[in-house]
Amino acid sequence: MLTREQIQELLQPLADPESGKSLIDLQLIRDIMVKENKVSLSIVCLDKEGTSRMELEQKVRVLLNEGGVDDIHIRLRDATDYERAILRGESTEDEPQAEQGEKLKGHAVGLEGHELISENSGVNFIAIASGKGGVGKSTVTVNLAVALARKGKKVGLIDADIYGFSIPDMMGIEEGPIVEEGTIIPVERFGVKVMSMGFFIRENSPVIWRGPMLGKMLRQFFSDVGWGELDYLLLDLPPGTGDVALDVHQMLPHSKEIIVTTPHATAAFVAARAGSMALQTDHEILGVIENMAYYECSSCGKKDYIFGRGGGARLAETLHTDLLAQVPLGAPDNHISEPDFSPSVYKAETGTAKLFAEIADKLIAKYEQE
Ligand SMILES: Nc1ncnc2c1ncn2[C@@H]1O[C@H](COP(=O)(O)OP(=O)(O)O)[C@@H](O)[C@H]1O
Ligand SMILES: [Mg+2]
Repeated sequence: MLTREQIQELLQPLADPESGKSLIDLQLIRDIMVKENKVSLSIVCLDKEGTSRMELEQKVRVLLNEGGVDDIHIRLRDATDYERAILRGESTEDEPQAEQGEKLKGHAVGLEGHELISENSGVNFIAIASGKGGVGKSTVTVNLAVALARKGKKVGLIDADIYGFSIPDMMGIEEGPIVEEGTIIPVERFGVKVMSMGFFIRENSPVIWRGPMLGKMLRQFFSDVGWGELDYLLLDLPPGTGDVALDVHQMLPHSKEIIVTTPHATAAFVAARAGSMALQTDHEILGVIENMAYYECSSCGKKDYIFGRGGGARLAETLHTDLLAQVPLGAPDNHISEPDFSPSVYKAETGTAKLFAEIADKLIAKYEQE
């Protein structure tokens, strides 16, 4: 079976006729997924004309066939005005897309007194933090956002993890945001309005670009994004206690926090650092979510505590807060062929989605009590 990188290599020769650049480098062929010999991908079409689209699709099929792939699923969609402006407009140089994102508005953004983050905006900010990557912070953020939206709340989600922005992929978002009269319109999925660094930074741009860009971009997410009315705005923070996490903490003085950990003792230990950072910046901790808490056997129902036991509870105790939930291991049962395919969102009727619904209820009760 081919890897995603090998597929990218196979398709590398396909170029945009106007600029001569590779469609892969321009990220116009994206969302490449390989599953059991089936390859699915999206083509973002700059060309509106039907026959050239069909030709392009055909070329992709031929190249993949030659590489030994027969089962190919291709989605075609129009480039947004924003993508067209960036790719066909003035800024097709090899500069980080982050800078291009900045060019959307040619002014520096000061946040002082900005409406959305002012204390009486009525928006409840919840930052999701973890001690390290890979514990399921993004999975928790996405499913909590969807759970709140399923309860009828107006929810926004900011993917602020510059080192591993993953929310668009996890939610199955294929399109980028559009710009209307200088306002960036977030992409809505499952009733959640999403903004991600990933919309603006090319996957392959060096990480070194990202740090300095983050602060500016986040500010822009608050000032230039048309969020509309919101009840909750969730932030997927970068893992750990680095500068970026600290920046976000300081930018959002009244945000509250949820700490995600696995049950393992060392994971809980590093998560405690993220927790104490929250406390030092005067952020109230809403609670701890223990992810990958156990594996439940589908035939006998027995729970196996594969990654150890008790990390979440101990962490909650250390931070003087509640253990909000223990989320079991188990990937969402979604299929790539489904119209609302999203790799990381659990369907409403599943046990895991119900757990997130319970967490949402707890949070709503807490906020509405205040
Ligand atoms: N409860 C779970 N059961 C099974 N897989 C999970 C669970 N939570 C997360 N994962 C998987 O673990 C990996 C890391 O999760 P992710 O949410 O990206 O973590 P983080 O944002 O902390 O780096 C992903 O592949 C994700 O799909
Ligand atoms: Mg993540």
